[in-house]
Formats: sequence, structure tokens, C-alpha cells
Amino acid sequence: MRIAVFSTKPYDREYLTAANDARLHELHFLEPRLNCETAPLAHGFPAVCAFVNDVLDAETLAVLHAGGTRAIALRSAGFNHVHLPTAARLGLRVMRVPAYSPYAVAEHTVGLILTLTRRLHKAYVRVREGNFSLDGLLGFDLHGRTVGVVGTGKIGAIVARIMHGFGCRLLCHDRVENPECVALGAKYVPLDELLAGADIITLHCPLMPETHHMISAAALANMQRGAMLINTSRGALVETKAVIGALKHGQLGSLGLDVYEEEGDLFFEDLSRQVIQDDVFSRLLTFPNVMITAHQAFFTREALDAISRQTIANVTAFERGETLVNQVSAPAS
Ligand code: NAI
Repeated sequence: MRIAVFSTKPYDREYLTAANDARLHELHFLEPRLNCETAPLAHGFPAVCAFVNDVLDAETLAVLHAGGTRAIALRSAGFNHVHLPTAARLGLRVMRVPAYSPYAVAEHTVGLILTLTRRLHKAYVRVREGNFSLDGLLGFDLHGRTVGVVGTGKIGAIVARIMHGFGCRLLCHDRVENPECVALGAKYVPLDELLAGADIITLHCPLMPETHHMISAAALANMQRGAMLINTSRGALVETKAVIGALKHGQLGSLGLDVYEEEGDLFFEDLSRQVIQDDVFSRLLTFPNVMITAHQAFFTREALDAISRQTIANVTAFERGETLVNQVSAPAS
């Protein structure tokens, strides 16, 4: 099947080409992000492959459909960027990669926690400049601290397991309890109780209408003063302006982000020779206790290999008329 692959980076080309070694599909790599203006590039392609910051809103889906597209293969787990009711109305089949390497994201999450706990981001720069002073680098032991895990699915459960290994206490919040976390001694509590009781709060639930801005000004005020917040899930779980206020007043002690609610115009591109136009993001960069990575948590060899193979398998299943086990559908209204 002919597949138009949007938002292609060199690593996507390499891993998708390798995954298509049986040459079942004809891959057309396109660099632009998918949106309603670039969607005509997919004209005549029955399948489109999209990534996390592609815009699959109602308008884009209509253009794709009019151009003959019938299947959308997301090379991501999250599908919050697809307007599923429109996809359903148009008969577009949307597939995702529900699990590729939860370890990649969980380990990156722990990397952010350790960086902030021990100020490694400051130490790296300092030592390279010949400044070997320890002033301002004072950290704290993770052992004995309480970690709050919001969303204990595949990634959250691994984070819980790793933090348990550090000797942390675990508070968890989810719609369903994960027996793996319960077996670690985690206590499931309402979100308010988790926010109030945790030294470190890490978000691993999907972005949905009910989780949008779950970390609001009120939620931040409910946290322990000086708590650490980590978000490697989706940017809009966190109300960024409220977080900036909490950082300014010391209510939030540190912040680790791999995702940002307006990341679409920034992440995955080299903008180092441009002036960043996003003032909210620029303000975040000024805090010494903020560590940001640009949606990198998934980015391991193992994850890219698994994403690419599953994406190709999803399109193959569609082409053969098989049951689409990785199809995502709009919730029944
Ligand atoms: P998963 O589906 O295995 O787990 C999500 C968990 O969140 C489930 O247990 C679910 O019950 C829970 N949940 C749903 N609504 C909730 C709510 N209102 N409050 C608390 N918990 C709730 O998903 P997985 O694989 O663990 O991924 C989690 C998120 O990580 C994804 O939604 C995605 O947005 C993000 N992600 C980020 C990546 C990155 O590179 N930064 C890469 C892959 C995923």
C-alpha cells in the first residue's frame, strides 16, 4: 500500500525502511507536519502515517478523505491529536502503536527526577566551565521520599517499580488499580490526596477532556511546598501559566518536562538560530530548577524499532482486511 509518511526525520526514514524490509508497502517520506494545508500532499495515498504533533483535526481529516485516504497509522501511543468523531463519520480507520517501549519513557522520567534532585543540569555546565564549587547544588536523597504516580498503566507502573527500588513510598492515582503497583505497597488515593502527600509527582495518564489542565493553580496550591512535578505524558495535562506562577513563588520546587502544551511549533526542530516567539516557554527556560527535554522520552533504538514494525504491521492488517487490533475509535456518546 502507498503510505504518505508525514513529519519524517532521518531516524523515521531509517527505522521505517528497515521495518518495511519485505517491501509490502511503498513509503513516501514527507518532511512537513500534517495539517489542513499540507494534507493535499497525501492526495492519492490510501494510507497516511502521522506523528504526535501532526494536526489531525476535522478539517485535515476531510482533506485526507477527499484525497482518497482510508487509513491513518499513528506512530505514537497517544491519539489526542486526532478528531476521532470526524474520522468515524468519514470511515477513516485510525490505528496507533499502543505499546512500544514503556521502559524508554519510564527511564527518561527517572532521568528527569535524578537530574532535578541532584541538579545535574547545573553541574554539567559548571564543571565544563572550570567551576568546581558545590554551592547551590545541594540535593536530597530519594530514599524515603514519597512519589505520586498519576496513571499507573504501562509507563506509570514501571516508574513506580523503579522508584520503589530507590526506597521511595508510592502514592498512586488511577481509574483502576494496577495489581503490580499494589504488590509494591503503593497506596491508591484520590488525586487531591496524592498531590498533598507526594514529594515528587509524575504524570502518566492520557490527555483527555477530563485530564486537560489537571495540574491547575488549585492543584498546585494543594501540593506540598517545594514539591517536584514531572510530566512526560502530554503537555496539556499541565496549565503552564499556573506552573510558572507556582515556580516564581517557590510553591513548586522543581519541574521536569518532556512535553509542553504548545510544543507543536517548537519541538523536533532546530530553532537555535531563531528567536523563540513563545513567551511562556521562554519564561520556563529562565528557571534554574526547570529541566526540559523536547519530547525525547520515547527516543530509544528499541522504541523506534518497535514503533516502526508495529506501524507497518498495522497498515498490512488494514490492507489485508484483518481485524485491526490497534484501531482507536471515538468513545460512544
Ligand atoms: P496506558 O494506557 O498503559 O496507561 C494510562 C493509564 O492512565 C491507565 O492506567 C488509565 O487507566 C489511566 N488514566 C486514565 N484516565 C485517568 C485519570 N483521569 N486519572 C488518572 N489516571 C487515568 O498508557 P501508557 O503507555 O502508560 O502511556 C501513558 C501516556 O504517556 C500516554 O497517554 C502518552 O500520552 C504518554 N507518552 C509519552 C511519550 C513521550 O515520548 N513523552 C511516549 C509514549 C507515551
